[in-house]
Amino acid sequence: MESQIATSGAIVLVGFMGAGKSTGARSVAAELGTQALDSDRELEQRIGEPIESFFDREGEPAFREREEELVCELLARDDAPVIALGGGAVQSERVREALTRHTVVHLEIDPEDAWRRASGKGRPLARDPGRFEALWNDRRALYESVADAVIPPADRDALRHSLPFLRALGDAPPATRLVWAAAESGDYPVFLGRGLIESGFFPPLTGRRFVVTDENVARVQRVEGDGRIVVMAGEEHKTIHGAEHVLRSLAQGGAERGDLVVAVGGGVVGDLAGFCAAVYQRGMRHVQVPTTLVAQVDSAYGGKTGVDLPEGKNYVGAYHQPSAVLCDPAALETLPPEEAAAGYVEVVKTALIAGGGLWARVRQGGDVGGSEIMGCVRTKLAVVAEDERDGGRRQVLNLGHTVGHAIESATHYERYRHGEAVGIGLLAALRLSDRDSLRAEVAELLAARGLPLEFSGASVDEVLALVERDKKREAGRVPFVLVEAPGQVTPGHEVDAAALRAAVEEVRGG
Ligand SMILES: NC(=O)c1ccc[n+]([C@@H]2O[C@H](COP(=O)([O-])OP(=O)(O)OC[C@H]3O[C@@H](n4cnc5c(N)ncnc54)[C@H](O)[C@@H]3O)[C@@H](O)[C@H]2O)c1
Repeated sequence: MESQIATSGAIVLVGFMGAGKSTGARSVAAELGTQALDSDRELEQRIGEPIESFFDREGEPAFREREEELVCELLARDDAPVIALGGGAVQSERVREALTRHTVVHLEIDPEDAWRRASGKGRPLARDPGRFEALWNDRRALYESVADAVIPPADRDALRHSLPFLRALGDAPPATRLVWAAAESGDYPVFLGRGLIESGFFPPLTGRRFVVTDENVARVQRVEGDGRIVVMAGEEHKTIHGAEHVLRSLAQGGAERGDLVVAVGGGVVGDLAGFCAAVYQRGMRHVQVPTTLVAQVDSAYGGKTGVDLPEGKNYVGAYHQPSAVLCDPAALETLPPEEAAAGYVEVVKTALIAGGGLWARVRQGGDVGGSEIMGCVRTKLAVVAEDERDGGRRQVLNLGHTVGHAIESATHYERYRHGEAVGIGLLAALRLSDRDSLRAEVAELLAARGLPLEFSGASVDEVLALVERDKKREAGRVPFVLVEAPGQVTPGHEVDAAALRAAVEEVRGG
């Protein structure tokens, strides 16, 4: 496998104090059979004393000057394949410029964990908690601006596991970013970059590739494989029968457990092909190549796969994490506008869950580009990392879905796209959350995309009966996800029957 891996300069680890850069660099270097360089240690050797005493005596500007000089030297060397950078080094523009030649990995850490690990050790910038947190916020934007890859805090082995994929980044189109997805049952890389599909990039995974796609996607997107299975487009084909067709085609093509299913398409293809991968010969790996906005911001990640029964949507399925996701925003250019609009609802939903910078951008109502998609992906991955199997936190992803599903079902899945129904459900959820101005703001965002703000084709009673049925099916689990504010979204709320009726009546069109 080594021979297909491209190298792109050194692997440089950046991140806040306590993120584990030095340890991480040592483990990556050991994996590569080389030595790691640690800029803080190198600097101490050069100045001949601990950083703390130099910093306290000479002040921060003098320290930064020496640090910049040394780091630029390290980054210019070609015998230093793995480098851990001091947390503040990226403040220098010269350093940021020098980093562009390397594969820069941001090791994330939460401010609380960082404080726990870094305080009380004499570190000059980890003495005052308020200042420490402000610094964490400022620096985070800088790390983001230089990083080619992001490794979330949860997983200690992630860096080692991600190594072959980090090295493969050199083969991907420029500006492709890698986000490491962690879940209890498995980790995987998400590559996000414009032009990924056209470039023919594929992550270093062994096995023959069986591409599963639908007839519409097959006309506009080309992903090469060793076998190709084309299914009919549309939710009505996400069935056991559709799965049988894919499974039998895999068998007829001679697919084996060590091979890969490559799902190229929207959520329908992703769910169907992922499910087939989960059950074919008791499980083979799959790679998701999402081509709709719904799939790029939501359905391709998190490992929920499945098909529908006449009795209910997604009634048969399995949790099966992908082995990689290739997300190419250029694929969205051929997407019909109504599909893009339906996907936009998931973007608004995810931005409400995330709050912060993502909500700030999405509420402007502009086009959804790579950075908004990235924000949504990271939000979804963070939620799934906490709760893969929907035991608690993951339920926040159902914001707007309780009433949304009921509307979809009451109108027999014919009148509204999933996203359209969820948009209306979102408005009901915001009413139930008693958030008038936020509700008005979301309604404006949806209306600007031509999305419906009200439903027709079913009565309020029919929708309420389906909400009730959903609740029973969930074994008494209270299904309402409510919004306190963007970034403060919580599951498991009971709502008053009269308030629910009023919220549904409000979205029932005349
Ligand atoms: N697994 C999960 O976590 C999860 C999350 C959300 C939604 N879903 C599932 O996703 C499905 C909805 O996904 P969807 O909205 O992507 O629908 P979809 O897969 O049906 O795609 C919508 C339409 O767009 C076409 N299309 C796809 N990509 C295209 C492209 N690049 N250019 C032109 N046409 C293109 C498809 O052929 C289809 O006609 C539902 O079945 C839902 O249950 C799953």
